[in-house]
Amino acid sequence: MPITLDYSNVIDANIGAEHGLSISKIESLSDKGKEILDDLRQKAEQGELGFYKLPFQEETFSEILTYANAARKRFDYYVHIGIGGSALGPIALQTSLLNSYYNLSETPKMFFPDNVDPDWIYDLLKQIDISKTLFHVVSKSGATAETAATLLYFMKYLKESLGDNFYKNLIFTTDPVKGLLNDIAREYPIKCFRIPPNVGGRFSVLSPVGLISAAIAGIDIQALARGAAEMAQKCDNDDLLKNPAFLYAAIHFLYMKKNKNISVMMPYSNKLRDLADWFRQLWAESLGKRYDVNGKVVEVGQTPVKALGATDQHSQVQLYVEGPNDKVITFLEVENFEHNEQIHNHFSDIDEFNYFEGKTLGELLNAEKKATELALTNNQRPNLTVKFSEVSAENVGAFFFLLEAATAFAGGLLNINAFDQPGVEHGKIATYALMGRKGYERKRKEILKQLSEKQTFVV
Ligand code: PA5
Repeated sequence: MPITLDYSNVIDANIGAEHGLSISKIESLSDKGKEILDDLRQKAEQGELGFYKLPFQEETFSEILTYANAARKRFDYYVHIGIGGSALGPIALQTSLLNSYYNLSETPKMFFPDNVDPDWIYDLLKQIDISKTLFHVVSKSGATAETAATLLYFMKYLKESLGDNFYKNLIFTTDPVKGLLNDIAREYPIKCFRIPPNVGGRFSVLSPVGLISAAIAGIDIQALARGAAEMAQKCDNDDLLKNPAFLYAAIHFLYMKKNKNISVMMPYSNKLRDLADWFRQLWAESLGKRYDVNGKVVEVGQTPVKALGATDQHSQVQLYVEGPNDKVITFLEVENFEHNEQIHNHFSDIDEFNYFEGKTLGELLNAEKKATELALTNNQRPNLTVKFSEVSAENVGAFFFLLEAATAFAGGLLNINAFDQPGVEHGKIATYALMGRKGYERKRKEILKQLSEKQTFVV
């Protein structure tokens, strides 16, 4: 099996009744789970839940591949302008599936400036030759302040370098009709890819949002889709105790009820580290909600935390093993590393190093994972493992789909809308008001009044 979910260490037989879950407790959610599964199927069929269909968009894949093949020949640099759901998936694809030092030896060199720190952006500007750079602007709404401002920043240099031909180095990925990027694209012949309207930002990695940069860097996007499609089938299983998305959601839901409101994702793999970053947004924005679907105040959610094994064994694990028992930990483990050389004790006089003889770094990493897992389990700390047979496009695609479907199930169990983000919208609106965007004058007045009345305590 390419990726598996091992949930043995949440079961009461292994971690005790107080912090463990019985199989019957998980089974007790089956009726609700079946209802959610039917609802998700119906919404996918009726076109309300677009992420279910993304692994099957053959036409889009060939359009992307044709474009990417041409772009790879034309450009030496690729700059991805987007934030949140328009950046985290694309970044995770690059770090998991490319050589870790890809930019040192390959072209186009890939950059993902997903923040508006002016010094950071300036440093990037100094690294690229604008005339040989493809700028891919990704925004579903087409209006996000950080994305728009970064585009405008680079526009100055695009115009200086290419004059009226600046549009030839730009592509947009946005809503099919709505938003300001479409207004620009109506004026200039800018190549546009589309985010289906029924696909939310954080569920969009397997759309052109993530696939264009992946294809340009040479990642096999059809293998990604294949892995996701296989996982989609597994997550459609009516036998819910065999459905990994339901199980992941049900376990976390039951632990939220037990006040374990922190979900740690801890890859024992540097390549997989940004999958945890991607997951952090997915879980936080989808499940962190004030109201349930009936408008009742529920204030639910689980704080996702990212950790890295083995590095964070020397930073976080003390807390996880002995601190408050308020977390559910998901390890990501790699069974077979691509390059896993044996090591030799070059200091044979030092007997204490002999246990390394003939072992590999991968064996050490996985032994450390096993050791952390044991320490947690022996201290009644619930933990699960998503095991990757290897770090491959198929498995990464499967992982994305598994967690997306699990998030949809978790939303159903919590009875909330997992697909909106009113809290993020508040922040976006306040930013527009503070920056003086037209149409936000009343909000601006309100905020300035609030700020002027605020009692300040600063030392
Ligand atoms: O998941 C989401 O919807 C958000 O995180 C968005 O992706 C993020 O706010 C960026 O929005 P947009 O793609 O509209 O620029």
